[in-house]
Amino acid sequence: MNHFTSIHDVPNIEALIHKALSIKHASVFESPIVNPKSNIQNPKTLVLLFFNPSLRTRLSTEKAGLNLGMNVISMNADAGWKIEFEDGVVMDGDKAEHVREAAGVVSQYADVIGIRTFPTLTDRERDYAEVVLRQFQKHATVPVISLESATLHPLQSLTDAVTIEAHKKTARPKVVLTWAPHPRALPQAVANSFVEWMKARDVELVVTHPPGAELAPQFVDNVQIEYNQRKAFEGADFIYAKNWSSYTDYGRIISPKENWTVTAEKMALTNQARFMHCLPVRRNVVVEDAVLDDPSCLIFEQAKNREFAAQAVLEEILNKHT
Ligand code: CP
Repeated sequence: MNHFTSIHDVPNIEALIHKALSIKHASVFESPIVNPKSNIQNPKTLVLLFFNPSLRTRLSTEKAGLNLGMNVISMNADAGWKIEFEDGVVMDGDKAEHVREAAGVVSQYADVIGIRTFPTLTDRERDYAEVVLRQFQKHATVPVISLESATLHPLQSLTDAVTIEAHKKTARPKVVLTWAPHPRALPQAVANSFVEWMKARDVELVVTHPPGAELAPQFVDNVQIEYNQRKAFEGADFIYAKNWSSYTDYGRIISPKENWTVTAEKMALTNQARFMHCLPVRRNVVVEDAVLDDPSCLIFEQAKNREFAAQAVLEEILNKHT
């Protein structure tokens, strides 16, 4: 694998999911964790640039790099000067450095670069062009992995595919992605990416959301959309909840009249579905306490699996580039 910025960078999705599962298995049954690169003389360096805050992505990717014997450097890239991403501009404003230099310089220290960037949620064309991620990728001289970009979160979705693979009870489980309320305007990245990865898996995928919450057509073409949340939940094996702001009225907070919070009463309509969420989650807004605190809830296993997914991706990239 050369880069990891979306599912389209992955040559063999099935193999990557099973690689993450085998790393997970080894971490449980082989103690201490076998670190295949711990004795190398010239360890590789992973530099993670965060233009937006993160708890899970930061810690799990750092841990994955450490598991592989890498040097790991994380930087809050929003805390310093502003970077210019447009080409050909006269830089006489507040941007101190162009991405051409920034990406080129980071490449002097890194063997792999991770980039975390959120959308503007005001400029749909710019967000969906993935300007920040693509400019870094273009001007870096080492592999780039997405730690969540403006429109996609492939490390989260790989993790979710791993979690579903580990817990499915039927060959073709029913997986429901449900929109849920949130007081702030959130990206569509997790939902877009989840749909993209589930379309590549052998699952019955249903997306349920209120009118006005339609995702970008390139993601949901040929996907079953159900505007009735309760109907969508019937017979589901996995319920994946996530809020996203409007794609059509770009960035608007959607406030339906009906209650879209995931409740224990709605979960009772399912086939004893396992509840999933990428976190962070707003309790009793997105999902009620009783669902999150139920032993069947998979949120902590998802968080743990982030480490194994990141490790599988890093191993694939290091294998290709060392
Ligand atoms: N799920 C996820 O990406 O979490 P963080 O925002 O904490 O990284």
